[in-house]
Amino acid sequence: MMHTEGIRDVIRYIRKFKGSTIVIRIDDDVIDSPLFSTHIHDLALLHETGIRIVLVPGAHNHISRVLDSYDISWKMEDAIRTTTDEGTNFIMMAAFDVSNRIMARLSAERLTAVIGNWVRARGRGVIDGVDYGSAGIVDKIQLDSLVCALEDGFLPILPCIGWTSTGRPYNISSTELAVSVAVALKAEKLFFLGLGNTISINDYTIPKTADLSPEGRLAALSVDDIDSFLEKNRTKTTDPHSLDKMTDLLVQARTACLKGVPRVHILDADIDGVIPTEIFSDLGSGTMIYRNNYGTFRNMTRDDIPAVLSLMNPFVEKGVLLPRKNEEIERRVKDFVVFEIDGGIRACAALHIYQENMGEIAAIAVDEAYTHMGIGPRLMKLLIQRGKTAKVSSIFVLTTQSADWFEKFGFSVANIDQLPKERREKWDTKRKSRMLLLSF
Ligand SMILES: CC(C)(COP(=O)(O)OP(=O)(O)OC[C@H]1O[C@@H](n2cnc3c(N)ncnc32)[C@H](O)[C@@H]1OP(=O)(O)O)[C@@H](O)C(=O)NCCC(=O)NCCS
Repeated sequence: MMHTEGIRDVIRYIRKFKGSTIVIRIDDDVIDSPLFSTHIHDLALLHETGIRIVLVPGAHNHISRVLDSYDISWKMEDAIRTTTDEGTNFIMMAAFDVSNRIMARLSAERLTAVIGNWVRARGRGVIDGVDYGSAGIVDKIQLDSLVCALEDGFLPILPCIGWTSTGRPYNISSTELAVSVAVALKAEKLFFLGLGNTISINDYTIPKTADLSPEGRLAALSVDDIDSFLEKNRTKTTDPHSLDKMTDLLVQARTACLKGVPRVHILDADIDGVIPTEIFSDLGSGTMIYRNNYGTFRNMTRDDIPAVLSLMNPFVEKGVLLPRKNEEIERRVKDFVVFEIDGGIRACAALHIYQENMGEIAAIAVDEAYTHMGIGPRLMKLLIQRGKTAKVSSIFVLTTQSADWFEKFGFSVANIDQLPKERREKWDTKRKSRMLLLSF
């Protein structure tokens, strides 16, 4: 059964994303995969929640097959396909065929899709002596009519073709197209959905600072860390083809983020429900590329109290944290800091200051789904700094089961007699918490 917090997350995210736009670039091999119809079904559900969806189908494999079957010569130059004028017609045919197949599936979900020529393009021309022939780049997205289609409830599909003002078609990279469309539409999110798109610790070297999910998936990566990620993995002997693909996605994700798309997500189409999970839960099941502000530490307000109480509840039940009442937290609300992701409180802690010039770190809790990400240590650093600013001479904690963890921050076991008077009076003789002290 779904966890209560999970249900609250879904409701919060439905509210947050209603009316916003998500651009999804789908690899064409997803269409032939067993989960294709499930993903399309999920899109129909998302559409019902009021999220606007734009699809940009990749057609790389399909185009290769069509060109080969008609004996049209083509080659890849720097990851860009070049072919003859005659080849362009076959590329169009293949690209539209992929879009049509997606449209057929959407129809089965009673979604009205529309395939359109919203893309103005121009040829890449000749660069360093290489003639890029049929390959073009996006010049402009015809935004007005695309927005109209979305406002009217249609689901636009943009094949990887663009036309010049005189009607000449060019083949454009669907990844680049998806980025241009997401930027032009000021999309909330851009998804790259493809088979095997998982970045896991089993196949990649992942920077220590990056957020890992409990099963070892790279859950989130800042654009600032993309270069170091790619550098680390260039020297590692992973499958070069999948590294090339990932490199392209990460570089495009960075471009999108830097041009204003808040978050880009790399999603594995082999995972059932990967799209809704990525939207409606904080950790998702893919890799999120973000520019900044993924999770912030801030002072707690009264409005946060219910969320903080439910965050602490599982630890109270386990006897790790003391039970606290609403009023008690309200009285000391200024002492608390919380860590928030997308409006959800995922960690909290407090620093209480006593007359004896001592501070107490209390009620530190990190949502179990977010442990091992360094959130706890960042909270500790922040509160220790607060204590120093308030000129306390030492900070203590009372703990039953987490002494080893606090010792990592320089705390050491102390005698209960050293507690400030007010706190010693409240010390529970049955609970027998240990006192750990950090002196400055
Ligand atoms: C303890 C806690 C705050 C750590 O938060 P975090 O953000 O996961 O911290 P970290 O990123 O440092 O990762 C946790 C590390 O501490 C270790 N750890 C977790 N709980 C621990 C405990 N009770 N005692 C010793 N070590 C512990 C983990 O094994 C992990 O080690 P690793 O990095 O070598 O794998 C969090 O697990 C929590 O909220 N626990 C329940 C509440 C609690 O115990 N509060 C303190 C009561 S006084």
